[in-house]
Amino acid sequence: MFSKNALLTVLLGLSIASCTSKKEAEEAAKNSPTPSEAAAPQAEVHGAELKSVELTNPLNKEWVSAGKGIYDTKCLACHKLTDEKLVGPGWSGVTKKREAVWIMNMITNVEMMLEKDDEAQKLLEQCLVRMPNQNVTQDDARKILEFMRSNDGEK
Ligand code: HEC
Repeated sequence: MFSKNALLTVLLGLSIASCTSKKEAEEAAKNSPTPSEAAAPQAEVHGAELKSVELTNPLNKEWVSAGKGIYDTKCLACHKLTDEKLVGPGWSGVTKKREAVWIMNMITNVEMMLEKDDEAQKLLEQCLVRMPNQNVTQDDARKILEFMRSNDGEK
């Protein structure tokens, strides 16, 4: 009888111990995500509001042409480079009219802008179409901004 109890105690102890260590492992996994999990929030563009943008002077020519490439594939369907509206407003003059940081947030975080920003909401009232999130990274958005500045005549 005694030895059976002792065995039970040992087994119980073992199962508790293994249970705890499993929980601990899970906690640890939660607190220190694997590299792939850690990369996910960066790939997901919405949620991070940008506070400032550094402008180059003169323009970064490589970014201008990279930005043009992104424009051609992701933005051209809705935005002209003149001041003429297509689905969205034409881009001519946009960098004079808006802060760089506003433009960057509009590109990378359009849902938040349409929800919170008065100017973005005014545009929505005029265009009647919600600009879709184009999954543009901040790096790519910065290149598009450079292309917009070039489109507005900056050198
Ligand atoms: C499906 C159409 C569509 C696509 C594609 C699109 N946009 Fe837009 N965009 C809009 C609309 C519509 C607005 C006006 C705001 C609204 O109604 O959501 C807008 C507004 C903007 C504005 C503000 C313009 C201003 O005059 O202040 C910027 C900047 C902008 N878009 C950048 C981009 C960039 C960069 C891309 C490509 C990566 C892009 N958009 C792709 C439809 C689009």
